[in-house]
Amino acid sequence: MKSILFKCYYGITNYKLLYYPINFQQMKKMTQFMLLMLFLLTSITCYSTNNLRWINNFNDNWRFHLGDTLNVQSPSFDDTSWRKLDLPHDWSIEEAFDKNSLAEPGGGYLNGGIGWYRKIFTVDKVWQGKDVFIDFDGVYRNSTVWLNNHPLGLRPYGYISFRYDLTPYLLWDKTNVIAVKVDNSQQPNSRWYSGSGIYRNVSLVVISPFHFAHWGIFVTTPVVSEKKATLNVQFQTKVQSTKESITIHSQLYDNQGNLVAKSPVISVKDAVSTTSMEVVVPHLWSTSDPYLYTLVSSLYVGNQLKDQLSTTVGIRYFNFDKDKGFSLNGKPMKILGVCDHSDLGCLGSAVNKRAIERQLELLKNMGCNAIRTSHNPPSPELLDLADHMGFIIMDEAFDMWETPKTTMDVLMVNGYSRDFDKWHKRDLEDFVRRDRNHPSVMIWSVGNEVPEQYSYKNDSIPRGAIIMKDLCSIIRSLDTTRPIVTANNNPNPDNPLISCGATDLIGINYHMNSWLSFPKVYPGNKLIITEATSALETRGWYQMPSDSILRVPPDNSLYTTPTHFCSAYDNCSTPWGSTHEETWKVVKAHPYISGMFIWTGFDYIGEPTPYIWPSRSSYFGIIDLAGFPKDVYYMYQSEWTNKTVLHIFPHWNWNPGQLVDIWAYYNDADEVELFLNGKSLGKKHKVSDQLHVMWRVLFEPGTLRAVSYKNGKQVMVTEEKTAGPAAHIELTADHSKINADNSDLSFVTVQIVDKEGTLVPTASNLVNFSITGPGKIVGVDNGSEIDHNPFKTNYRNAFFGKCLIVIQSTHKPGIIHLIASSKGLPSGNINITTVNILK
Ligand code: GAL
Repeated sequence: MKSILFKCYYGITNYKLLYYPINFQQMKKMTQFMLLMLFLLTSITCYSTNNLRWINNFNDNWRFHLGDTLNVQSPSFDDTSWRKLDLPHDWSIEEAFDKNSLAEPGGGYLNGGIGWYRKIFTVDKVWQGKDVFIDFDGVYRNSTVWLNNHPLGLRPYGYISFRYDLTPYLLWDKTNVIAVKVDNSQQPNSRWYSGSGIYRNVSLVVISPFHFAHWGIFVTTPVVSEKKATLNVQFQTKVQSTKESITIHSQLYDNQGNLVAKSPVISVKDAVSTTSMEVVVPHLWSTSDPYLYTLVSSLYVGNQLKDQLSTTVGIRYFNFDKDKGFSLNGKPMKILGVCDHSDLGCLGSAVNKRAIERQLELLKNMGCNAIRTSHNPPSPELLDLADHMGFIIMDEAFDMWETPKTTMDVLMVNGYSRDFDKWHKRDLEDFVRRDRNHPSVMIWSVGNEVPEQYSYKNDSIPRGAIIMKDLCSIIRSLDTTRPIVTANNNPNPDNPLISCGATDLIGINYHMNSWLSFPKVYPGNKLIITEATSALETRGWYQMPSDSILRVPPDNSLYTTPTHFCSAYDNCSTPWGSTHEETWKVVKAHPYISGMFIWTGFDYIGEPTPYIWPSRSSYFGIIDLAGFPKDVYYMYQSEWTNKTVLHIFPHWNWNPGQLVDIWAYYNDADEVELFLNGKSLGKKHKVSDQLHVMWRVLFEPGTLRAVSYKNGKQVMVTEEKTAGPAAHIELTADHSKINADNSDLSFVTVQIVDKEGTLVPTASNLVNFSITGPGKIVGVDNGSEIDHNPFKTNYRNAFFGKCLIVIQSTHKPGIIHLIASSKGLPSGNINITTVNILK
């Protein structure tokens, strides 16, 4: 029997603010603001005789069983032999890769199945008389939930967030039992790795029976200029009948905690009420300055404060123009986006905010400013981070409508197509209501490459057009402030999703020629490239000659290399795709293309195109599965950021006499000179719209040195040295101090280096890890697409010189000591401190 752990946030959800890259002054101000908000809200809490809104982390101390069993929902069921774990949890990532897995290559050969979760808890009597809800951010998939044997409901869609009211069935004097059945046994139901289980956060929300409804506050900014913004706030409330007056008001604070605007006090008569306020000289939200306000909304019965909710607010305006493309706050800019699935590499699909933040940091550093949440509603953490870090989000609802996509779906057995008719309205409404306050969300996508794009001859009104209109009207009944799009791989005007005219933008996947003919074919329409590129690369592996493009054969026959790798020169792509350079050149050159979303930012588990087994994860990422950038990352950095870039590749460990292509990505310079062991190999500069330069060099061991020049003056120098034999294990932690909150992570990069400290680019040494102290190893990886060792273990082979270990804190502060050992090498070690950053 366990009582639940109370973590009272009093409505403030953005404590992680302190983790964003900020300078000391900002940090000081923010800390002051946090203290102020805490004081404000705590004092408000004290003002009431009752506490207000408890949001309790409900992740700890669950029991889990893989497989189906009878009577689990019964409180008397004995689960003591079941495994104890904390959520979020993905059981599939713990499985062995299985060539015969029903998940097939798409699912990364990791099995689904049925799993049960149980949690026994007691509730504090202080809460009696309040409403108690359980919030699931996402369960993959087909979840059914019971409290004390009472069924609360089922949700088939694995990416949707949902809430159940526990109040009617809660026991105040006894223990309570929540049981959750998760059924991901019908496989394949996805074209990528989905994970299985309660893979997102769960919370218990305790509020007065007079409260703001779930996702019940909606903030819009209908008028925004440099001088003034109008903020409209719509409230949806859940109240009981009372003789006393029920009133609401909202106050807006800037990020220093200063009150900058407030609404009049309004009486609540209906379930939905609205008010507004004006902000003078608003600090606008943008991708380079993601400034956020906090709206604190209060609900009173008589003069008693009953509920209080804080909402993050970003004030911005944006526009899509048929000729000039996208602009944010009146400034033209391109949407420089990537598509990403939601797995987090070796952590699987189990949500971890720090892991998502690390991904976004890597993307930001590359110059990326937008994410497409392909092809499903993301975790709330991703959207919070995007608001704080300055990313534009294309928020996508579905990969399938009525017509199935995966093999089993064709037999109408499984997948979302099976649930679409019954659930799409509810799922789409919940999706919009949950996400519509995020300033980062700027586009709603209702579908990716759905087969309904093709109309059939005997359709009087094509089914695709009917569904399209239905989905758009569902969204517009809840939000009219964002454009709606679909991602189409049928770019032709006979596509009913386009021809029905229901969307605001036309989204095209691939088909670069149609981008060029767009203004003629679709005069007056606005274009966004919803998906592009699908180039293929393995970090560290190079296929020459690099100046011939390796296009996977169009007949879809398998592209084969004995290694099952794809060349990391940007010279390999799918038949429907293009290289990174080919694609960006076109987007860059045409102002009417408002932007693009590259397939993909990160490698992901599953869809190992162009191979199948033993390949089990994708080759599409600009960054590999372990989070190590591939070379093309620096092409984007040289084009998309103000950082001075000079990146040469590949490494310099080849066979004597071998001809090697050396590429350089650079910016801020007119030309680059390459030297081999001090001897100049000549200067090169980009010609026309070229994005790289290349030398063909006869290998001899030593040092390659590249120097970039502007107006004859040296700008930057980069070297690649021939590495000698492996001599050391070098460990580098991205964070050497982490929060002791049972969730924060340190990502430790492991490099095999020679005695001079040069990475050995061919090293594949097996590295064993051990740790002591208050931490746990939660994953290991190396970015290889074919490595079948488990992700959840304590060893990994280096892959082209590198691997990764991920360490998670526990609730205890202290020092975690990590030792990495490998046969024939001295051990490497590193300390990570875990501290109570926020109490
Ligand atoms: C697209 C599809 C993506 C992914 C990609 C691989 O057509 O929308 O989900 O499968 O192809 O190239």
